[in-house]
Amino acid sequence: MAGDHNPADGIAFVNGTYVPLAEASVPLVDRGFVRSDATYDVVHVWKGSFFRLGDHIERFQASMRGLRLSLPLSAGEIAWILTECVRRSGLRDAYVQMTCTRGIAPKGTRDPRLCENRFYAFAQPFVWIANEDQRRDGLKMIISSVQRIQPEALDPRLKNFHWLDLTMGIFEAYDRDAVTAVLSDRDGNVTEGAGFNVFTVRGGTLATPDHGVFEGMTRRTVIEMAAEIGLACALRPVSAGELRDADEIFITSTAGGIMPVTEIDGRILGNGRPGPVTQRIHDLYWDRQHAAGLFTAVDYRD
Ligand SMILES: Cc1ncc(COP(=O)(O)O)c(C=O)c1O
Repeated sequence: MAGDHNPADGIAFVNGTYVPLAEASVPLVDRGFVRSDATYDVVHVWKGSFFRLGDHIERFQASMRGLRLSLPLSAGEIAWILTECVRRSGLRDAYVQMTCTRGIAPKGTRDPRLCENRFYAFAQPFVWIANEDQRRDGLKMIISSVQRIQPEALDPRLKNFHWLDLTMGIFEAYDRDAVTAVLSDRDGNVTEGAGFNVFTVRGGTLATPDHGVFEGMTRRTVIEMAAEIGLACALRPVSAGELRDADEIFITSTAGGIMPVTEIDGRILGNGRPGPVTQRIHDLYWDRQHAAGLFTAVDYRD
């Protein structure tokens, strides 16, 4: 391997070869870079096994179809490349991304149909969107004044790099003495935040927005777990007012699982500690990482 990089810092797959993540690059004129013309998906590896690998690849392929992107790779071949990135890194806990960009338009044209779509992938150490203190004590969140891009303009179920609304929300959160933000839609219902879905708990039942959001794999897992344990979970519009009045709030992401929110727009929820329903869902989620049918063990041997 080139240079003196530590494989555990990350391995990427670019142009058909595996390289240290720090050395991986994208051509400047790839439309994925200059136009955010790309889709991606993120799956994690926990204690040596992928969680819901097949479901993530299926979702990635659905995003590609929705954005009229295609690759000459089967689901099995994608799985193989992702596994190889993880195996070569040696990482037991990893954040693994697959990306398909539009690629480079032939000279003299901007016709997206003529681009050869490209595949990039990498494995890097597990990413937590909340740090250890925040996961223990809960996050301070705001409902941002920035509106989420409307689903009529860009279907949020197709995973994309249009993150500037989410990023501006984070800036606003820091300005308002919080650390994260959820964005609303034009009707005043909450949607999602930078890399996460949101759930409320009220009177012992869960609710999460039913539209205008990316249908997160962690969100899907929570919905399934709630059904299994007989906890009501409604998929419906959740107003900003309802979120402010919640007993508990938690956010969900492949990059961190189930993370408690203990302050919303300056209001402290309950006793200011992560609530019991959030704790239960959190524990069930991590127990589920090696449940039959949901995990794919990585073979780390050479
Ligand atoms: C906008 C957005 N919403 C929600 C999520 C959560 O999805 P998942 O649970 O599949 O990580 C993500 C993940 O990156 C995201 O980008």
